[in-house]
Amino acid sequence: MPHKRTRIGLIGYGQIGKAVHQMVKDDPDSGMEVVFVHDQAAGALDGLPRSLVLDDLADFARAEADLVVEMAHPDVTRRWGRTILEKTNYMFVSVTALADREIEQMLLETTRQHGTRAFIPHGGVVGMDALRENRAVWDSVDVVMKKPPKNVDCARAGVDPTQITAETVLYDGPTRGICPIFPRNVNTHAAIAYAGIGFDRTHSVMVVNPAWNTAVVSIHAQGGGIELNVERVEGITGVTGASTPASIYNSVQTIGSTGPGIHLR
Ligand SMILES: NC(=O)c1ccc[n+]([C@@H]2O[C@H](COP(=O)([O-])OP(=O)(O)OC[C@H]3O[C@@H](n4cnc5c(N)ncnc54)[C@H](O)[C@@H]3O)[C@@H](O)[C@H]2O)c1
Repeated sequence: MPHKRTRIGLIGYGQIGKAVHQMVKDDPDSGMEVVFVHDQAAGALDGLPRSLVLDDLADFARAEADLVVEMAHPDVTRRWGRTILEKTNYMFVSVTALADREIEQMLLETTRQHGTRAFIPHGGVVGMDALRENRAVWDSVDVVMKKPPKNVDCARAGVDPTQITAETVLYDGPTRGICPIFPRNVNTHAAIAYAGIGFDRTHSVMVVNPAWNTAVVSIHAQGGGIELNVERVEGITGVTGASTPASIYNSVQTIGSTGPGIHLR
C-alpha cells in the first residue's frame, strides 16, 4: 500500500524551525515533505532553495500544506491562526497565545466551521499525557521554572535582565497572568495549564538567578489520591531548552508521519 506523503509548511526558521526541517530531511521514512518555509527576518532563509521560500504568508494556501507548523512567536497565531485553519491543520509551538481567551475561541470556532484541526505539542512538558488523562481529579497544579536571566525575554516585563544580580522571583501567580508578560518563555506553563486544570487554576512561578546555567521546570500536580512530580534540568540556548527541537519534531511526526514502521503513540 503506497504511503501518501504529508505536506508540511514551516513558519519561523530559528533554532527550532531549522532543527525540525533538518530532522524531516534526515529521516527517509518520515513520510513528510516540507513544502514551504516562512520567516519575517530578512536573511533567515538564505541558503534555502528558492522554491521553498514563502515570502508572504498570505500566499500560504498555494503550497497546499496538510499541516502548518508555527515555530516563531505567539503573534503568528493571533494574526494568522484563523486564516490558516480555514484551509488546513495548524500546530503552534508558541502556546502562550492560548492564554488570550479570544484567541482560544477563535481557534476552536474556526476548526469547527472548517473541519480542520489545531495541535499543541507537549514541547517542554514532560508528562503532558498524565496531566491530561487525570485533569478531572487534580486539586492543584504548580509549575516552577528556574532560568538564568539572560535566557528570559524580559521586554514586556519592564525588567533589565542584565541588572539582576541575585536569585529573583519574576512572577508568582496564575498561569493566565504570566503568559502576556513572558510570551516567549513560558510556553511550557501554558501547555501545562491547557492540558490540566486551565490557565486560571494553574499556579506559575518564574525564578531567575545569574549563577545558574541550566533551565529547570518542576511540575507538581495532586488530587484524587494521585500525586505527580516531574522535574527536568537541561541546557538552554536563547529561549529554548536543549530537548525542545527533538520534542517538536516528534510531535510533528506523530501528527504527520505516514511512513512505514512501528509507531509509538
Ligand atoms: N512549546 C514549547 O515547549 C516551546 C519551547 C521553546 C520555545 N518555544 C517557542 O518556539 C518559538 C521559536 O523558538 P526558537 O528558539 O526557534 O526561537 P528563535 O528566536 O531561534 O527563532 C524564531 C524565528 O521566528 C522568526 N519570527 C519571529 N516572529 C515572527 C513572525 N511574527 N512571523 C514570522 N517569523 C517570525 C524569527 O525571525 C526567528 O527566525 C518561540 O515563540 C518560543 O517561545 C516553545
